[in-house]
Amino acid sequence: MELLNSIWDLAKKDIKRIVLPEGEERRTIEAARKIKDLGLAHPILIGNKEKIIHEIKSLNLEFEDIEIIDSNTSRNIDKYVDKFYELRKNKGVTIEKAKQIVKDPMYFATVMLKCNDADGLVSGAVHTTGDLLRPGLQVVKAAKGASVVSSFFIMGVPTSNYGEEGMLLFADCAVNPNPSYEQLAEIAITTADTAKKVCKIEPRVAMLSFSTMGSADHDTVEKVRMATELAKKLRPDLLIDGEMQLDAAIVESVAKQKAPNSNIAGKANILIFPDLQSGNIGYKLVQRFANAEAVGPICQGFDKPINDLSRGCSVEDIINVVAVTAVQAQNN
Ligand code: ACO
Repeated sequence: MELLNSIWDLAKKDIKRIVLPEGEERRTIEAARKIKDLGLAHPILIGNKEKIIHEIKSLNLEFEDIEIIDSNTSRNIDKYVDKFYELRKNKGVTIEKAKQIVKDPMYFATVMLKCNDADGLVSGAVHTTGDLLRPGLQVVKAAKGASVVSSFFIMGVPTSNYGEEGMLLFADCAVNPNPSYEQLAEIAITTADTAKKVCKIEPRVAMLSFSTMGSADHDTVEKVRMATELAKKLRPDLLIDGEMQLDAAIVESVAKQKAPNSNIAGKANILIFPDLQSGNIGYKLVQRFANAEAVGPICQGFDKPINDLSRGCSVEDIINVVAVTAVQAQNN
């Protein structure tokens, strides 16, 4: 995907420290080596040092220049326990409990990020999305001015000209099961802003539904309508329109018929799904049926960049998500 080349170029311009809490995992280790060689980021592997070194040797890799931190023996452990305790004591966490929790590499890496000892975090080759998001939401939390953390995928559809020459952003496909209309509006705005900053594209946002401009009525359609209205009111500078069906959003001939007055219909490059069921199913349909490249889920709205991987990810996927995370960190 052309976009990934430019993201790699951006990442190389200002090297960021990206912590990988699944440091004992084979694909993660291979990716860390390549990330370092390509100069995309400074990777930090978290995990049991002996296990990591054993894996490295079995892969025949050189590793002197890659940072490995064991959460059980780290010199920063007391600092991280104190930080976690401070953040979660009003949620019933005791200092003893904090000591246990912070040794978990997922929590350790998240607190490390919070303490500015890393610039971004990538995980998910082993853990589920919830395992990654919960520590992030509890420790790093939403950025100032953001009320909802959400996610998007960069979808690269070969042999297609939809969106931005075959590249589109899909949101939210991984985090919010049933966003309110206010949250949906915020997801649309945040995705548009991220698209500008990270993907360097002019966003054209379609608020998806099974109805186009009033062709059907239902509570779920009303939610999308209200979200569209609110997003337009909050950010008149952005090109956002809806509610509209997928074909009206991306196919010019259908747009002419169903939404002739829309300024983005037929040429949307950002698709906002009404809920997680549709978003998650939608991106996987495109990925499988169209053999599309799906980079993500890339999270947005966190105070610092935290990104997920699919458990079926390849080494290449990890490298790409780390590059995106590094660029997000540059913009933080
Ligand atoms: N934005 C901001 N803050 C949030 C959000 C959000 N989207 N969701 C929860 N929070 C806050 C809560 O208010 C809470 O704050 P507090 O503890 O400081 O009061 C904190 O985060 C933790 O909340 P929990 O209640 O512990 O977490 P919850 O049970 O709400 O789970 C989660 C959050 C993990 C994101 C949940 O909504 C979830 O599982 N989402 C779906 C993930 C998933 O399975 N995706 C599909 C697979 S991904 C793929 O296919 C690539």
